[in-house]
Amino acid sequence: MLSRHPSKEIIGKKGEELKGKTIALCITGSVAAVRCVEIARELMRHGAEVYAVMSQMAQKIIHPYLMEWATGNPVVTELTGKIEHVALAGKHSWKVDLVLVAPATANTIGKIAHGIDDTPPTSVVSTALGSNTPIIVVPAMHESMYQHQIIKENIEKLKKIGIEFIGPRIEERTAKIAGTFEIIDAVISKLMIQDFSGLRVLVTAGPTVEYLDPIRIISNRSSGKMGVAVAREAMWRGADVTLIYGLGTASPPRGVRLVNVETTEEMCKAVVSELKAKKYDVVVSAAAAADFSPSKPYKKKVSTQKVSKLVLELEATKKIVDEVKVVSPKSFLVAFKAEYKLKNEELIKRAYQRLLECNADLIVANDVGRKGTMFGADTNEVFIIDRKKNIIHVPLMSKQMVARKILDVVSEKLKLGRKRD
Ligand SMILES: Cc1cc2nc3c(=O)[nH]c(=O)nc-3n(C[C@H](O)[C@H](O)[C@H](O)COP(=O)(O)O)c2cc1C
Repeated sequence: MLSRHPSKEIIGKKGEELKGKTIALCITGSVAAVRCVEIARELMRHGAEVYAVMSQMAQKIIHPYLMEWATGNPVVTELTGKIEHVALAGKHSWKVDLVLVAPATANTIGKIAHGIDDTPPTSVVSTALGSNTPIIVVPAMHESMYQHQIIKENIEKLKKIGIEFIGPRIEERTAKIAGTFEIIDAVISKLMIQDFSGLRVLVTAGPTVEYLDPIRIISNRSSGKMGVAVAREAMWRGADVTLIYGLGTASPPRGVRLVNVETTEEMCKAVVSELKAKKYDVVVSAAAAADFSPSKPYKKKVSTQKVSKLVLELEATKKIVDEVKVVSPKSFLVAFKAEYKLKNEELIKRAYQRLLECNADLIVANDVGRKGTMFGADTNEVFIIDRKKNIIHVPLMSKQMVARKILDVVSEKLKLGRKRD
């Protein structure tokens, strides 16, 4: 026999947020069970070991072999002399870190709410309730079932005892299982240290655009991946996050409040109005604003039949980051400085100069002219510089990991007390 299942090769491929964590994925008899492979494997990509536990009805919808393949672990399909429910969720040091019931049928929710455990998933949940193991329930059913008064009461009852519910999404008269990324975000938030809990974080990300005429723009190649990674990381670590987002291609996480903007002026106004409306503890200015804007944009589409040569006059746009400390002096400001093909010394020198100009608390410098750090890459190499000119070099790694390093420094500076794992 193989000592390690080949399916486990993907563990940690996307990140280490769930490294060393074990999750019991309880699958019940909903059509949404077809999503369990994706959910299990995404959890694994973030570092988790997953053990599937299936009800009889779930086993009629997807075969346990599929979940064994997906997780690389034996699947619990019945309780035997091995007392699988206790082995997974009992009060002992090797129990799972979290029980995820996804999808959860109306039937299983009802049973949990009434302390009934007569299926492998309900027995695991019962045991987890008694051993203080976090439980997340992800319902999926027809809308008519979901609107049933008793089911609503059952859900409320379970929320009151600390069980977290994710979704459902009401679509096509169905209470559909939440999106995979929403589920993964909820699991990570539950298991990561919540050092940013109670803090409000404002992040700007993506490129802004400037219009030459109503349909043509000038911009830059920023994808928004770095800023979105920072927003996601802050959300995972418990912050209340607002993301002011230009026209980036990276998908922002569902759990952040999203403000979409296009132009530099719009982004600037949005930042100022957010800072005036609420107290933000941290501002991370990762957007790549279009630095130049046409002095006189054309009001109508410029016709190529009539105009064969177009000369544009551009003027520098306002620096958004310069406004932050003026409007909100108490916010901890993290600025970014992108340069092109510079020696490290010069990159750091210019970034530090910029930190002083915008009165930032930290500046993150990167050179977008290097291999693996260009706009749009999934990786980055940065220097994090503070006001005392202490420099932390973050070598080439995923943007999500870079975001973690940046927020680790913020956490340390603000004494948020994050225990390093
Ligand atoms: C194909 C199929 C799809 C089903 N989908 C759902 C569903 O999405 N949600 C739900 O609550 N019940 C659904 N049911 C009904 C449940 O399977 C049924 O209530 C069963 O008793 C649930 O048992 P369990 O909670 O132990 O898995 C479905 C049944 C079948 C046959």
